[in-house]
Amino acid sequence: MRIVLASNNPDKLREVREILSGTDIEILSQREAGIHTEPEETGTTFEENARIKALAAMRASGLPAVSDDSGICINALGSCPGVFSSRFLAELSYPEKCQRIMELLEGIHDRGAHYTAAAVMVFPDGREITAEGIAEGEIAHEARGEGGFGYDPIFYLPEYGKTMAEISEDEKNALSHRGKAFRALASKLCEERN
Ligand code: IMP
Repeated sequence: MRIVLASNNPDKLREVREILSGTDIEILSQREAGIHTEPEETGTTFEENARIKALAAMRASGLPAVSDDSGICINALGSCPGVFSSRFLAELSYPEKCQRIMELLEGIHDRGAHYTAAAVMVFPDGREITAEGIAEGEIAHEARGEGGFGYDPIFYLPEYGKTMAEISEDEKNALSHRGKAFRALASKLCEERN
């Protein structure tokens, strides 16, 4: 089954393809599906934004589409940047954003944070399947690791003693918000078909 991933983020594309590699779902990039537009993310929740992106990709391609809207929620910042994670401190690079977050948390005891991903799959006949995944962690005191992307070098996993950027891609996909959301989505799709 061919499904367009409504994202222009190559890191997400790689992760989602790997997460779904054991299924019969073939993920097409927006480029492969001939989609060159990106809708404005006007929703207030991860699920709303995921739906906006999936519907836009489905309408542009005529194919089923799936989208991931995700972000990092930091306890001490009132769960920010949350749905604004990709737009947060837009003028800075990710290493600079990570540095800024660590500065904002200096002297703060609660370093708890989580990643959330909402996955929404839509079909031309109007059907929709949704799933959510959460990965718990802490904001590290220093950025470490080269793997993953975005905020991964400062997303510390106490049970591993490592950041999300220091574990392997397979380990990240096994525990990540995106891994959980897309595996749940694939199993709901499978139930629907049986
Ligand atoms: P979206 O493309 O609008 O869903 O934005 C997601 C943003 O959340 C990314 O650009 C990153 O800033 C952040 N994010 C989501 N998932 C991850 C992850 O697995 N690692 C690091 N940052 C992430």
